[in-house]
Amino acid sequence: MDTNATKPWLFFDLVLVLSCRLACFSMAGDTLSAGQSLSASTRETIASQGGHFELGFFKRGIPSRIYLGIWYKKFEGEDIVWVANRENHLSDPSSSRLEFSDDGNLVLLESWPNSPFWSTDLTYRLPNSTEAVLRDDGNFVLREKSNPSSILWESFDHPTDTWLPGAKLGIDKITGKPKQLISWKNLEDPAPGMFSLSLDPKGRKQFVLQWNRSHVYWSSGLWNGKYFSSILENRSTYALNFSFVSNKNEYYFTYSLYNKYFSSKYVIEFSGQIQQQAWEDSGWVWKLSWSEPKLADVYSFCGAFGVYNEDLSNACGCLEGFKPFSIEYTNLNDSSGGCVRKSPLQCENRTYANGKNDWFLKMPNMRLPVNAEAHSAASARACEMACMDNCPCTAYAYNSNGCMIWEGALLNLQQLSDRGGAGQDIYIRLAFNELQSRKGYKWKVWVIAAVLTPALGLIVCLCICFSSRGNLNRKGEEASSNDLLLFDFNIELHAISDGINTGDTSRQRGKKEFDLPLFSYESVSAATNNFSAANKLGEGGFGPVYKGELLRGQEIAVKMLSRRSGQGSEEFKNEILLIAKLQHRNLVRLLGCCIEGDEKLLIYEYMPNKSLDYYLFDPIKAKMLDWETRKRIIEGIAQGLLYLHQYSRLRIIHRDLKPSNILLDSEMNPKISDFGMARIVGDTETQANTNRVVGTYGYMSPEYAMEGLYSIKSDVFSFGVLLLEIASGKRNTGFYNSESLNLLRYAWELWMDDRIVELIDQTIGYSSTASILLRFINIGLLCVQESPTERPTMSEAVSMIMNEHARLTTPKQPAFVRGRNMLAANPATNSAGDGSVYGLTVSIMEPR
Ligand SMILES: *[C@@H]1O[C@H](CO)[C@@H](O)[C@H](O)[C@H]1NC(C)=O
Ligand SMILES: *[C@@H]1O[C@H](CO)[C@@H](O)[C@H](O)[C@H]1NC(C)=O
Ligand SMILES: *[C@@H]1O[C@H](CO)[C@@H](O)[C@H](O)[C@H]1NC(C)=O
Ligand SMILES: *[C@@H]1O[C@H](CO)[C@@H](O)[C@H](O)[C@H]1NC(C)=O
Ligand SMILES: *[C@@H]1O[C@H](CO)[C@@H](O)[C@H](O)[C@H]1NC(C)=O
Ligand SMILES: *[C@@H]1O[C@H](CO)[C@@H](O)[C@H](O)[C@H]1NC(C)=O
Repeated sequence: MDTNATKPWLFFDLVLVLSCRLACFSMAGDTLSAGQSLSASTRETIASQGGHFELGFFKRGIPSRIYLGIWYKKFEGEDIVWVANRENHLSDPSSSRLEFSDDGNLVLLESWPNSPFWSTDLTYRLPNSTEAVLRDDGNFVLREKSNPSSILWESFDHPTDTWLPGAKLGIDKITGKPKQLISWKNLEDPAPGMFSLSLDPKGRKQFVLQWNRSHVYWSSGLWNGKYFSSILENRSTYALNFSFVSNKNEYYFTYSLYNKYFSSKYVIEFSGQIQQQAWEDSGWVWKLSWSEPKLADVYSFCGAFGVYNEDLSNACGCLEGFKPFSIEYTNLNDSSGGCVRKSPLQCENRTYANGKNDWFLKMPNMRLPVNAEAHSAASARACEMACMDNCPCTAYAYNSNGCMIWEGALLNLQQLSDRGGAGQDIYIRLAFNELQSRKGYKWKVWVIAAVLTPALGLIVCLCICFSSRGNLNRKGEEASSNDLLLFDFNIELHAISDGINTGDTSRQRGKKEFDLPLFSYESVSAATNNFSAANKLGEGGFGPVYKGELLRGQEIAVKMLSRRSGQGSEEFKNEILLIAKLQHRNLVRLLGCCIEGDEKLLIYEYMPNKSLDYYLFDPIKAKMLDWETRKRIIEGIAQGLLYLHQYSRLRIIHRDLKPSNILLDSEMNPKISDFGMARIVGDTETQANTNRVVGTYGYMSPEYAMEGLYSIKSDVFSFGVLLLEIASGKRNTGFYNSESLNLLRYAWELWMDDRIVELIDQTIGYSSTASILLRFINIGLLCVQESPTERPTMSEAVSMIMNEHARLTTPKQPAFVRGRNMLAANPATNSAGDGSVYGLTVSIMEPR
C-alpha cells in the first residue's frame, strides 16, 4: 500500500535533515576502511578533503529507488556526477549499505545475505587490506592500505553521464571496452539511456554522440592536437586543456582546467545533447557554456512516430493517430519512448479494421524522417500504391526527388515553421478508424497540382505553338518506353514539327503536357534589338548568347547556334528534346525555340545573376556568396542533378557540369544549364562509351577523360569537384599557389594532415554553418574517388547533404592525385570562360 510504502521514507527524510545537521559533520572524513560501512538509513556520507565532493546514498523516483553516488557538496546532492548501481537500484533504505567484502572489494548490499547489487571488480585480496577514498577531483579510489599510491580501482574508469576534469574517456586496448558517457534514462532514472558520448569506435581521434550505441548523430571533428575540427567556436581560446593519450593499455582524452577557481563538467543529458557546464568559485549555479547538437538534430529525440516542433512547450508531440507510449515518461520530459498507434492497421490485423482499407494522412511542411528507401514509382499515385501494398511501409513522400517510402518506426520527423519553406509533404499510413474519428474529413484526391504550362505571356503571336510531345505523352507506366524513343538523340529534328498535335491525350492524372513554343526569327530578333552587341551576354563554344525582352516585359536569354559551326546541330537537337521535358526548379527552363533556315535559336528564362564562376573565383565578388548561399547552391545543384539521374526511368547524364554552367536566379538559387552535352542512358545501362569525349578538363572523371566511358558516376565526379570549389573558392584547374598541382590534391593533403579546415574559403570568415561545409568537403572528396564504384550515387550524395546525421565514410585518395595528374595540370586545356553566360564551353579531345 501507498501509505506503508512512504513511511520509511518519511523517516528517511527526517533522518536526512537531522543527519546533515549532525552526521555530516561527524563523518569520518574522506576514507572508508575495512570494518566501516556507509548506511542508507543514517544517510552517512564521506566528503573529499577539500570539501568539493561527497559520496553517499540518494533516492529518485516514486516509489523511491536508492542509489550510491557522488555529487558536488556545494550543490547538496542535486547534481549527481557518478552513480555506482545505475542499472540495479536498491529499495530498502533501512538495510541498504556500502561495505567491504572479505575479498577486499567494495559491495552494495540490501538486507541479508544477498548477492551484491553492485561491487568493484578486484580479484581476490587479503581481508582488511584495502581502503576507499574520495578525492577532491571527484574520483572515488580503492587502494591498498599499506601502499596508498597503488590504485586498484577508480570511479574515473567507470564514468556515468558526467566527464570531470582529470577523468578519461577512451578505449581500453586490452578488453576493447569503451570508457564512455551514457545518458540517464530520464530526470528520475539514472539507468543507461539511449544516448552516449564516446571516442569514435573506428579509432579516429574524435568524439561521437551515438543513439542506441550504434547510430552516430554528431561528431566533434578530428582532434589535431589543438582543437576539434567541427567545434569552431572559440577554438583559439578553449578554456580547457584537452590532451590525447595513447599507451599500450588504452587511449583516451582527458582535460584539465587552466584556472583552478573554476569548475567544469561535461554531461550527456537525457535529451541527447552534450553540454559543458561551468561555475566560478563565487557562483551558485551551473552555467551552460556550450552544447551540441541542437535538440532538433538529436537522433530520435522525440522517439518513434514523434514529431519535433519548436513551438510546442515540451518540443515533442505525436503524429495524428498516435498516442504517447507512456504518460509517465512524458511528464519526465522523456520522449524517447515515442508514440504508438491508437488503432492497428488493416494489414496488421484484418479483423480489427473490419477489412476497411488503411489510408494516408498528408502532413505538410515536414522535415522527412531518416532511413528513407527510394522507390522507382514514377507518380504520386504509384508511390502511394507501392506503400499500400507493402505492410511494413508506414509512410511515403513523392516530390522532385521521386518516390520515397519508409518502413517501421518513423524517426526524426520535424514540423517546420511556415517561414522556412524547406519543408516537404509526407503521407502517413493510418488505420481506417482514424479516418472515421477525424471530424468532417473529406477524402483527399491525390493529385499533384498541375503546374500550369509556363506562363509566357507571349503576345508575339507569330509563334506557332506546337506540342513537342503530341502522342508521346506519358501515360503512367506503360508509356515510358515511348519516352525512350522520344529521348533517343538520334531522332530527327523534323520529328518534332511533324508531331504537331496528333491527338490531345494530354492530361493524365494531373500530369502536364509540355508545349514548347516555336518563336519566329523575326520576333526573337526584335526582342534582342536585332542581336545588337549591347544585348550580348557572352560567347559560348557554339555561338553567342543575347539578352532579350518580350513585348510584355519578360526577360529572356537567347542562345544562337552559330551558322558556321556545323557540329552544333546534334547538340541543338539534343538539348531541345531534353530540356523541353525537364522541369525542375534547379534546372534552367527552356521557354521555346526558333528554327528558320540555318538559324537555330534557343530561348531560355533569363538569369539575372549570371553564373557561379562569375562570383566564386573573384576575391571581391566571392564575398557575396556567404555560407548560407553556398550551402543553398550546393543543395540546389545536388537536387537538380539527382532529378536528371533519376528522372522517370531514364538516366540523363549531363557530362559538362562546372561553375559556368550553374546559373543563378535573382535570389541566387542555382539552376543547371547547358544540356548540349547531355546523354540519356537506359535504366539498365550503367555506363556508355563514346568516341567523342566532350566536356571540360578539371571536371571530367578519369575514366571518361581517358577512356571515353561515361556514367552517372562521371557527373558525380564533376559534382564533387564543384563542391570542393564552392567550399574553397578555388578553381580545380589553374591552381598554382602551392606544390599541389590541383585542388583535389591540395584538399587531399589537407585532409591527410587533419587540416581540412584550412580549405574553407577564407574570404568570408567562419560561421556556424562552416561546420556543414566541412561535411560538404568530406562528401566532395567521396565524389571524386578514382573508382566510379567508390563514388556515391546522387541520391546517396543528396541524403548525405540534406541529413546532417547521415554517417560519412572516410574518403580514400581521390583521382588525379597519382599518375593521372598531367591532365588537370595542363593549363592550356582550361577553357572555362570567365563568367561566360549560357556558354557552351567545350573541349574536344580525340580518344587515344
Ligand atoms: C578486519 O578489521 C576489523 C576492524 O579493524 C577487525 O574487527 C577484523 O577482525 C579484521 N578482520 C580480519 C580478517 O583481519
Ligand atoms: C537498439 O539496438 C539493439 C541491438 O543493438 C536492438 O535490439 C534494439 O531494438 C535497438 N533499439 C531500438 C529502439 O531500435
Ligand atoms: C566565445 O568567445 C566569446 C568572446 O571571446 C564569448 O562571448 C562567447 O560566449 C564564447 N562562446 C563560447 C561557446 O564559449
Ligand atoms: C595541459 O595538460 C597537459 C597534460 O595533462 C599538461 O602536461 C600541461 O601542463 C597542461 N597545460 C597547462 C597550461 O595547464
Ligand atoms: C521539460 O522541457 C521543457 C522544455 O524543454 C522545460 O522547460 C522543462 O523545464 C522541462 N521539465 C523538466 C521536468 O525537466
Ligand atoms: C485483432 O483485433 C481483434 C479485435 O480487436 C483482436 O481480438 C485480436 O486479438 C487481434 N489480433 C491480433 C493478431 O492482434
